[in-house]
Amino acid sequence: MAKPSLSARDRLIVALDVPDTRAAETLARSLDGHVGVFKLGLELAMNGGIDLARDLAADGKPVFLDLKLLDISNTVTKAVENAAGQGFAFLTIHAYPAAMRAAVAGIGDSALCLLGVTVLTSLNAEDLAEAGYSASPDELVLSRAQSAASTGMGGIVCSPMEVAAVRAKCPDLNIVTPGVRPAGSDTGDQKRIATPASAIKSGSDYLVVGRPITQAGNPAEAADTIVDEIASAF
Ligand code: C5P
Repeated sequence: MAKPSLSARDRLIVALDVPDTRAAETLARSLDGHVGVFKLGLELAMNGGIDLARDLAADGKPVFLDLKLLDISNTVTKAVENAAGQGFAFLTIHAYPAAMRAAVAGIGDSALCLLGVTVLTSLNAEDLAEAGYSASPDELVLSRAQSAASTGMGGIVCSPMEVAAVRAKCPDLNIVTPGVRPAGSDTGDQKRIATPASAIKSGSDYLVVGRPITQAGNPAEAADTIVDEIASAF
């Protein structure tokens, strides 16, 4: 079961995957009060997104910087040291043990929650085999989640399909799941998916939803519908 202390709205993270900061600001304004967290990722980071992330955080909004860091230890530690003082709520690191140890070393006394990205939700067993892994997505997610827990990370990112197994082995981690699709919506490039209710029932703490909200005719209404589904799953 997901951790009980958050409201249904707090659990909804919207991915502001849009080409520029003007579009992101418009979306953030229309979704203010309808979602819990704003996630800014690589698309926007290439076009002013980090400044916008800082502005939203300075404005008191919970901000998730989804930069999926992976580099040599010194670089990861220094990057996290720089991010740690800026008021962000979440930052992602690829869940390689050395990178996670380096990230934890840079956190200091900041409240920033470091999340280990286990296996991207757009990858299935065939994609992993093509990349040279013999483990299945389930096996790799679980072993990376256990590494995240033992290195002192705040949580992990995985698909809704692995949440129950991760929750059973790593009860203290925050579990964040993209790959969330309300019934009937387009899957896009996501391969390991579930509905919001199913992800929550499996034990997700936070759901990341992008296109089903950002490409809806009325994003605030789409977000409200997902929040209702989250609430009804408890
Ligand atoms: O539009 P959609 O709901 O598929 O967006 C999912 C978001 O979650 C994207 O911003 C993507 O970068 C992010 N993400 C993911 N899978 C992961 C980690 C992050 O889809 N494992």
